[in-house]
Amino acid sequence: MPAATKEGDGGWKKFLWNSEKREFLGRTGGSWAKILLFYVIFYGCLAGIFIGTIQALLLTINDYKPTHQDRVAPPGLTHTPRSEKTELSFTLGESSSFKKHVKAMHDFLEAYNDTQQLDQMKYEDCGDVPATYKMRGALDDSQGSKKACVFRRSWLDKCSGLEDPDFGFSDGRPCLIVKLNRIVNFLPKPPANVTIGGVFVPDVVPINCSAKRPEDADKMQEIKYYGLTVGFPLQYYPYYGKQLHPQYLQPLVAVQFGNITVNTELRIECKVYGLNINYSDKDRFQGRFDVKLTIKTKS
Ligand SMILES: *[C@@H]1O[C@H](CO)[C@@H](O)[C@H](O)[C@H]1NC(C)=O
Ligand SMILES: *[C@@H]1O[C@H](CO)[C@@H](O)[C@H](O)[C@H]1NC(C)=O
Ligand SMILES: *[C@@H]1O[C@H](CO)[C@@H](O)[C@H](O)[C@H]1NC(C)=O
Ligand SMILES: *[C@@H]1O[C@H](CO)[C@@H](O)[C@H](O)[C@H]1NC(C)=O
Ligand SMILES: *[C@@H]1O[C@H](CO)[C@@H](O)[C@H](O)[C@H]1NC(C)=O
Repeated sequence: MPAATKEGDGGWKKFLWNSEKREFLGRTGGSWAKILLFYVIFYGCLAGIFIGTIQALLLTINDYKPTHQDRVAPPGLTHTPRSEKTELSFTLGESSSFKKHVKAMHDFLEAYNDTQQLDQMKYEDCGDVPATYKMRGALDDSQGSKKACVFRRSWLDKCSGLEDPDFGFSDGRPCLIVKLNRIVNFLPKPPANVTIGGVFVPDVVPINCSAKRPEDADKMQEIKYYGLTVGFPLQYYPYYGKQLHPQYLQPLVAVQFGNITVNTELRIECKVYGLNINYSDKDRFQGRFDVKLTIKTKS
């Protein structure tokens, strides 16, 4: 029984360090060493499998060509200034109401300044009429990085921000700058029979903006397009990716909405047309977008 009393008061201390059996926390040094060894090997293997899997995956990835691209989604059509919840509204005569839109457009267009595109090693003139795809060789670095086609900011004319620094916002004729999102190695295919202003223009993926609701059509009578043409010219494709085509400039189209009925929300839809561009109900930006434009007047 004396042993029991001893257990009673010093039990946990003995458990911590049992000097008779030379056990720490109920185990001998050898036992602890085995456990430690087991866990070192166990976690080592786990880490090895993890790193090995990642390495194997990285090996299959080509630096230039997107390998895991079996489901190429058609490109998104996006615009600057971005709209919040697809709503774009401002008040005539109140520059604070459109200041951030105008700033976003200036920021976006900086890359398109003529002064940014002077380097002959990086940019080349691809003409100012639509032309066919400009292939620049294989999708690897065997020929070094690729040149980009010049896109002149001045082509956006009244929407270039050069003559009118407010992009039409101050006089109620706002511009939107539209681009097709980059997809490496994607060649947009023009439609067979969509015309631009009644004329069929080859080598262009045309764009068209219109009132989403037919009853709005007469509330936005004037839609003007600026750019190299009313659409995206094919010589700007394909895009070779960030590494091979670091200076790449997407072709732009600026759309200006004039004669807008004020204090009314107008739903505008812009669409690009192409054989390999389709529209999805799930993705509102796939090949098209719509924006609710409201121009308010000071009350
Ligand atoms: C681009 O051009 C605009 C308008 O001329 C100018 O205000 C801006 O500072 C230029 N930006 C760059 C980076 O050259
Ligand atoms: C364009 O061509 C397609 C297929 O050839 C045809 O279904 C469609 O009706 C045509 N559209 C116009 C506007 O002619
Ligand atoms: C383009 O938009 C205009 C209205 O702005 C519309 O009348 C015309 O039918 C549209 N064209 C196509 C091909 O959808
Ligand atoms: C703008 O609207 C006014 C009145 O609705 C109309 O008289 C004029 O022709 C329109 N201008 C254009 C270019 O559509
Ligand atoms: C759109 O086109 C892609 C291929 O370009 C295809 O995989 C997809 O199923 C198409 N979607 C619709 C809704 O037709």
